[in-house]
Amino acid sequence: MISEIYKAELSDKDFNTLSVIINRETGIKMPPAKKVMLQARLKKRLTALNFTTFEDYTSHVLSKEGFSTELIHMIDAVSTNKTDFFREPVHFQIMTDVVLPEFVRANKGQPFRVWSAGCASGEEPYNIAMVIDDFIKRGYRFDFYVRASDISTAVLQKGINAVYTEQRVAPVPKYFLHRYFMRSKDKSKNLYKVVPEIRSKVQFSRINFMDETFKVPERFDVIFCRNVLIYFDRPTQESVIRKLLRHLKTGGYLFIGHSESLIDMQLPLASVRPTVFRKISDD
Ligand SMILES: C[S@@+](CC[C@H](N)C(=O)[O-])C[C@H]1O[C@@H](n2cnc3c(N)ncnc32)[C@H](O)[C@@H]1O
Repeated sequence: MISEIYKAELSDKDFNTLSVIINRETGIKMPPAKKVMLQARLKKRLTALNFTTFEDYTSHVLSKEGFSTELIHMIDAVSTNKTDFFREPVHFQIMTDVVLPEFVRANKGQPFRVWSAGCASGEEPYNIAMVIDDFIKRGYRFDFYVRASDISTAVLQKGINAVYTEQRVAPVPKYFLHRYFMRSKDKSKNLYKVVPEIRSKVQFSRINFMDETFKVPERFDVIFCRNVLIYFDRPTQESVIRKLLRHLKTGGYLFIGHSESLIDMQLPLASVRPTVFRKISDD
């Protein structure tokens, strides 16, 4: 059985069918060059469902029941969730040097609200919460929280668990590691769990950027949407940013990834630094 799945090949026809569904449901681009990647990533779904061919798998996805139960797993398998603590560290420096001092000067008792949109396994939202907490400990008083969302339920669960290997926490400066992580009692496991004080500041939920509206009641001071747009085509990128901006306060900041750009998009944003923008109006 395992060897049959190992040999299973995704035909062009089934690839086309699945890629249309994936693109429609997630926005993720699926050009023919991604066929080998899709085949490799979906093999574990064939195993889980006891199918030996992609033909059977595709028919299952096309059935009413199969679609409703399998879609979530297919999305988990195809989404790329690469992330790191202190990824693109200049953004955290800008938070500490510019965004947070400005917030403190203007604040009239409101909490500082941040959205990590496309948060993967939680490193980014916990990182943001640690940086804000560290700022507050320098002598400020305000409340804050971080909303963390992703389309993939598998990575959201990892975020909720908040347990990371020694390798995952390697980029975390020693000072942050001591302050914001608890090391597993069994030292041979080398696992690190985010402390409850920080975990309580981060709320995880599933949000698909392809939905017309997001179930997000509030407007944020800052939105991080980093290394997500690269998976979408240009019109989808612009439409996602427009929807996110509905939830950003005028004057609020948007951070995108370093390989992403908003050039030629008609958006109510002013560029502050490369990959950092400020919302200038409610249009
Ligand atoms: C490469 S990770 C980026 C994680 C983090 N923001 C960072 O920069 O390290 C991209 C994330 O976007 C999520 N994603 C992809 N398509 C999405 C969609 N349509 N709606 C919401 N999240 C999506 C993926 O599941 C993945 O976890």
